[in-house]
Amino acid sequence: MYRIKRKKVLNDQIILMDIKAPLIAKKAEPGQFIILRVNEAGERIPLTIADFDRDAGTVTIIFQIVGKTTKLLSEQDEGDAVLDFAGPLGMASHLAGYQKVAVVGGGLGCAIAYPQAKKLHQLGVKVDLIAGFRSKHLIILEEQMRDVCDNLIITTDDGSNGTKGFVTERLSERLEAGTKYDLVIAIGPLFMMRAVSELTRPHSIPTVVSMNPVMIDGTGMCGGCRVCVGGETKFACVDGPDFDGHLVDFDSAILRSTFYKDKEHQSFEDPGCRLRGAFDA
Ligand SMILES: Cc1cc2nc3c(=O)[nH]c(=O)nc-3n(C[C@H](O)[C@H](O)[C@H](O)COP(=O)(O)OP(=O)(O)OC[C@H]3O[C@@H](n4cnc5c(N)ncnc54)[C@H](O)[C@@H]3O)c2cc1C
Ligand code: FES
Repeated sequence: MYRIKRKKVLNDQIILMDIKAPLIAKKAEPGQFIILRVNEAGERIPLTIADFDRDAGTVTIIFQIVGKTTKLLSEQDEGDAVLDFAGPLGMASHLAGYQKVAVVGGGLGCAIAYPQAKKLHQLGVKVDLIAGFRSKHLIILEEQMRDVCDNLIITTDDGSNGTKGFVTERLSERLEAGTKYDLVIAIGPLFMMRAVSELTRPHSIPTVVSMNPVMIDGTGMCGGCRVCVGGETKFACVDGPDFDGHLVDFDSAILRSTFYKDKEHQSFEDPGCRLRGAFDA
């Protein structure tokens, strides 16, 4: 069992938890993720390692309540425990050797981008962090992000905080003004990552995106998390989640991301046995 040491509600949809998992905290690197199961009957879900404290032996997860398992997890409190917490999984992000990097986060993607920005900052890299949210009340991690970059640019779609508009507009302005980045990292909705990749392509700026397809085993065996990158099939759980944004086939990723919508909705509405239908005559 993995004890919840701290729980903090970041906004009405997003929750942060520190989980006691010393062996994972010892090895974790930015870009990696864990797979957890809340209880015996629970589903396995992947969540990014948003932070870790090797001394305290804790791993931070930040999750958005979007369905059955994230809702169940949100109902756990400090002192409770989750049954399984496996990791660190996936490839760590390659962050060494850069001078100036733009990290672009969209909504919850900021929680996933934060450890990348933190590591780059620790390595002495100049970091512009462009963080976009739909509205002021959804902004998360503002102070933490400010501490790990040289320049924090907050945008909101409705203009209720920071500058009005999308992260792509702020990035575009900087590129047009001649700001030289030797890497752009984009993490957020697929449409946003695709838009960022299209912006940086004509400038030939290497661009890394973090893919989050449905994952099942998380070890490269089931093929559920496949993404098409440069015409080849890759498994996000073992080859990623980071990939070259200029090579990712976003159209097929967007199509695949909607495959299970009906089933997910059904499972949220009906918490009964999911195998029931499978064994009906
Ligand atoms: C590598 C990786 C890292 C992720 N990191 C985070 C994170 O740090 N914070 C966060 O809030 N979310 C993260 N996600 C997404 C998270 O796994 C889903 O939100 C979660 O599985 C939803 O489960 P649910 O039962 O609450 O919702 P459901 O109703 O089952 O699904 C809602 C949506 O979540 C996604 N999803 C569902 N099951 C899975 C699955 N097994 N694998 C991947 N996606 C799934 C689908 O897009 C789906 O439409 C990550 C996903 C991946 C692949
Ligand atoms: S989750 Fe099964 S191969 Fe990646």
